[in-house]
Amino acid sequence: MSHSLTVNGDHLTSTADPVTPLVDVLREEFHLTGAKPVCREGFCGACMVLIDGDPTPSCLMPVALAQGCDIRTVEGLAINGGLNPIQAALEACDAVQCGMCFPGMVVSLTHLLTTRPGATRHDIRAALTGNICRCTGYERIIEAALLALATT
Ligand code: FES
Ligand code: FES
Repeated sequence: MSHSLTVNGDHLTSTADPVTPLVDVLREEFHLTGAKPVCREGFCGACMVLIDGDPTPSCLMPVALAQGCDIRTVEGLAINGGLNPIQAALEACDAVQCGMCFPGMVVSLTHLLTTRPGATRHDIRAALTGNICRCTGYERIIEAALLALATT
């Protein structure tokens, strides 16, 4: 059985078992390795992607259920091949440590930036409740989000 998926605007076909987690299909079949399988239980956010515009842990979504959805991974969030505002702000604020959490952080914060341009510090914290940073660099990440909000 094959599954037709739309990933970052590309129409791709997966031959994985229907219950295979989407994160594994993205990484192993499509070589999009931004999303990270870490907890595999929906808690850490390292595997976050946008499904029809909403941040979604791709470790919890069977590939068969992703058919017909607009899937956007961190690889698809650049603008004209360059950093998007939140990526640029994270770099400017020197917010990245080991980087394991960052694809998911970028996905969640890009969603916040595009859906709530007037977001507050409280809103940023709320938007990141599904994203865990083991390096505990939250303050710089929040400062970066505030910078991106102020400059877009
Ligand atoms: S690996 Fe999916 S939420 Fe942690
Ligand atoms: S930068 Fe290391 S887990 Fe967040």
